[in-house]
Amino acid sequence: MTTPVAVIVDAVAYAQAVEDAVKASAAYYAGGTSVLDDDAYDRLVRGIAAWEAAHPDQVLPESPTGKVAGGAVEGDVPHTVPMLSLDNVFSAEEFTAWTASLARRTGHEVERFSVEPKLDGLAIAARYHQGRLTRLITRGDGTAGEDVSHAIGTVEGLPGELAEPLTLEVRGEVLMTTAQFEHANEVRTAHGGQPFANPRNAAAGTLRAKERAYTVPMTFFGYGLLPVPGTDADTAAGLDDLAHSELMARAAGLGVNTTASTAVPGITAASVEQVLARVQEIAALRAELPFGIDGIVVKADLAADQRAAGSGSRAPRWAIAYKLPAVEKITRLLEVEWNVGRTGIIAPRGVLEPVEIDGSTITYATLHNPADITRRDLRLGDHVMVHRAGDVIPRIEAPVAHLRTGEEQPIVFPESCPNCGSGIDTSEQRWRCEQGRNCHLVAALSYAAGRDQLDIEGLGHTRVVQLVEGGLVTDLAGLFALTREQLLGLERMGETSTDNLLAAIETAKGRPLSRVLCALGVRGTGRSMSRRIARYFATMDAIRAADAETIQRVEGIGTEKAPSIVAELAELAPLIDRLVAAGVNMTEPGATPPPAPGEEGAEAAEGGAAGGPLAGMTVVVTGAMTGALEQLSRNQMNELIERAGGRSSSSVSKKTTLVVAGEGAGSKRAKAETLGIRLAAPEEFAELIADFLS
Ligand code: IVH
Repeated sequence: MTTPVAVIVDAVAYAQAVEDAVKASAAYYAGGTSVLDDDAYDRLVRGIAAWEAAHPDQVLPESPTGKVAGGAVEGDVPHTVPMLSLDNVFSAEEFTAWTASLARRTGHEVERFSVEPKLDGLAIAARYHQGRLTRLITRGDGTAGEDVSHAIGTVEGLPGELAEPLTLEVRGEVLMTTAQFEHANEVRTAHGGQPFANPRNAAAGTLRAKERAYTVPMTFFGYGLLPVPGTDADTAAGLDDLAHSELMARAAGLGVNTTASTAVPGITAASVEQVLARVQEIAALRAELPFGIDGIVVKADLAADQRAAGSGSRAPRWAIAYKLPAVEKITRLLEVEWNVGRTGIIAPRGVLEPVEIDGSTITYATLHNPADITRRDLRLGDHVMVHRAGDVIPRIEAPVAHLRTGEEQPIVFPESCPNCGSGIDTSEQRWRCEQGRNCHLVAALSYAAGRDQLDIEGLGHTRVVQLVEGGLVTDLAGLFALTREQLLGLERMGETSTDNLLAAIETAKGRPLSRVLCALGVRGTGRSMSRRIARYFATMDAIRAADAETIQRVEGIGTEKAPSIVAELAELAPLIDRLVAAGVNMTEPGATPPPAPGEEGAEAAEGGAAGGPLAGMTVVVTGAMTGALEQLSRNQMNELIERAGGRSSSSVSKKTTLVVAGEGAGSKRAKAETLGIRLAAPEEFAELIADFLS
């Protein structure tokens, strides 16, 4: 949990560090977004403190270490008692060391601590006069703050009237819960404003904004209760002598919100061990809390201990903030992916510039739904505040609007299902593929029927959708069991198209193994990999018999891919059996099965037509094919090259032996000429491989 310290090597680096920290701090207290996130700021200040400890005579007056709130916005309402900050510890060891120094100051081991969450908002003093809330003041520089009384009535948990007519001051934190933050940004962007980057900024900005056309709610948690000197002494009597835990109970009794209303109420602890156990409990609950916390505040509970420990100019010596690792970082939104889940829900996911948060590298964040993206005005290239706590999936809180350069691009929403191509039901916030749970089946069948796989003419996307929606086909093998009657029963299906489709399905049964394998959609095996596997093993039986080690004999399959291919084939075994039963071909024409592993020659076995006219050649096809080759797709050309013993490739390099250049060939032809690679016109090539043209 320890935050590393920024290393400062000399006075120049020290001065720069102080300047950076002051700037960041000013932005923080003014409700703007600092370019430093909390983690970076803490590291910097610890570095500054370390350098100052070694060079006490060179400490700059503006250093953030000596101030209550470095660079804070000054206010003109004096505080009766200074509003102090807290010193930090970052580990159990540092905390234990702090309790030892506390014991030295009090003259005994402290045996009663209060332990409560450190709420991530803004400190505020709320003055009550005879029970009525009269004034709200920000912390400012600790001695005087800004009057923000206009916010009275918008802060939940801070009643306009106390349960008793007392004159006193309640101190505590104003923040926005996650829901309040989302609401605030919705309202703000709807009014043409830029979104706030996180709840803390939103609370700071909202609290200080005086003339807004709208109000948004915030929440208050009290953590201090003090008498107002010079006023009705009776009403405040006794507060000074109450323990912190008693003050909190008193505040709650008066109607003020405290952490007692949350899942992490303040408690008292009798030992360091008990405190540390509670720190762990609060840390574990952090991700589920509806508001942000950035640590745990541990206080000497008894008033006598507090008095004995005293206060420094910046922070009390009787309280400490046990900081938790930052859960927020700023990074960039690079891309938005649209993934279709099992139920057909199309969910956007943000691809981030990798960023480390609390020890893990974050590259993705959820984005909920398209309306949410619009509402938050997110754009590609935006700097975004990313939040990740516990095991919860990281989320983007908001764009950091003031870091925009103007180069950001709008996020494009899909017009058809990115998985199967069907329409999208956009009637709900969460978009859904019109195929719902069938989406993946439609995609799988459309792919299998495609030109480069089983090439089933007449089985386009719409037909596949009809078959799936009608429940006629539930997997690839089901296609081969379709009857004439079933097809005739489909809308817009006449006799001729039915017969044509049945014939096309029949033809598909005879496609080479490479095509069938590709149609199965095994992950990591596209067209050319399927051909390589099929040519190497020659039969589906041989492929299925191969273990991860054997399958690595195929060029391009390494230790990573091999086990996943083997596992997927095992998963597909029942489907493959059904395809075999339906009469689908499972052999690769022209290929011979390799010797079994361990048999002589197993290592050297090549598979495929080793002795063909293109043996040992690497061939690239470019431009339009004419003559005998005119009808062939690029995939079919590649199949042909490989049948004739060659290797097909899509780019020209020194390894290329032959470039088949048709009409309109451009850069690849030019490159071949420069490299002195043999060129052939389509006709010339057709002659060369005539025996293999079927
Ligand atoms: S006690 C004199 N208790 O953290 C004692 N502060 O980093 C001062 N904070 O200025 C505060 N939760 O704004 C206290 N439970 C809590 C707190 C808390 C959040 C804030 C407060 C303080 C800052 C110091």
